[in-house]
Amino acid sequence: MTDDQVVRRAPLFSALDDASAASLRASMENVKLGKGTVLFSEGDEGDHLYVIVEGKLKLGTSSGDGRENLLSVLGPGEMFGELSLFDPGPRTATATAVTDVRLLSLGHDKVIPWVTQHPQVALDLLGRLSQRLRRTNEVVGDLVFSDVPGRVAKALIDLGERFGKDTPEGLYVNHDLTQEELAQLVGASRETVNKALADFAGRNWIRLDGRAVLIIDVERLGKRGR
Ligand code: CMP
Repeated sequence: MTDDQVVRRAPLFSALDDASAASLRASMENVKLGKGTVLFSEGDEGDHLYVIVEGKLKLGTSSGDGRENLLSVLGPGEMFGELSLFDPGPRTATATAVTDVRLLSLGHDKVIPWVTQHPQVALDLLGRLSQRLRRTNEVVGDLVFSDVPGRVAKALIDLGERFGKDTPEGLYVNHDLTQEELAQLVGASRETVNKALADFAGRNWIRLDGRAVLIIDVERLGKRGR
């Protein structure tokens, strides 16, 4: 897929015709980040939103005593940094490159004209925000109602849907996350998450492979995460 095709999946672009998309793209700036670089921190002032062209980036928050929680891991075609535009205020999360990342950035002042001139862009953005709220509600529900293995199973399925590649052996998910980051994503300790992963591997539902996982039995893992 070309960079243009990736970017056109972002809600800011999906409603635009080719000429408008090219013109919007031309007003965006290229940003490159090395693995591990912090793009912005929770609480910063922010006036740009971003679309990922290549690589993965994590959005996280931390508690006063230094514990970290991951809200999401984003990949190509996904957008972030818009909350501080629609609800003016500080950044709600810290954005850190999980791999080397290429982004396009757009000043908030440039977004407003696109949204007002293209109602469908506004609708697409609302759709994406609604999806995120739906997902966040689910995560909150799972924290209350699901056990850790259930949350781990669901996180793996979710990562698989976004980053997985079909192979003859199963769905190969190159998530690029350490076990610590996986634990932060499901809101549990590393030990408990490791135990759940080892249990799934023992049942032959998954095979661990460094910062990737092969999901051998998507159906059983999916059921455990429901
Ligand atoms: P902003 O607050 O400008 O900077 C941090 C970004 O993280 C925020 O905009 C959103 O784009 C994104 N973000 C915040 N909360 C969530 C969430 N629960 N799920 C996914 N993305 C989020």
